[in-house]
Amino acid sequence: MDVLIHAVVGLHIVGIAALLGGFLTQMKAMGQGTARMTPAMLHGALTMLVTGVALVGLHQTQGDTINTIKIGVKLALLVVILGLVYVKRDEEKVESAALGTVGALTAANIFIAVLWV
Ligand code: HEM
Repeated sequence: MDVLIHAVVGLHIVGIAALLGGFLTQMKAMGQGTARMTPAMLHGALTMLVTGVALVGLHQTQGDTINTIKIGVKLALLVVILGLVYVKRDEEKVESAALGTVGALTAANIFIAVLWV
């Protein structure tokens, strides 16, 4: 079971790479007002949701203690990220504020994950 959990954590990290990487590729365009939500960001956000829920389930089957407040905060931030990316996925240009919010909330979730025990 531990190997499975570690493999899913690996997929969780692949999701972060797609979501944050997708955002970082748009930073230059953000300054010019031509940035967009990229497909990698949408797929990364969906990967985070699926693997995150799977991780909670896998830990529960082992009887591990889960920090439900931390997971709830991460889930709430991801819902905002996913909502913004999904709604604006077909727009040729998005406001810098929307893209910046996605980047900031993704970074916030990374630090919540690693700093909140
Ligand atoms: C943008 C959104 C997210 C980011 C950036 C993120 C980031 C991370 C990172 C860096 C880790 C590894 C460090 C650690 O073990 O604490 C992690 C683990 C974990 N994440 Fe996320 N996460 C996100 C969303 C979610 C969501 C929505 C859920 C649940 C619904 C979730 C559930 C978990 C769980 C249960 C672990 C622990 C894995 C383990 O230690 O076995 N994550 N997350």
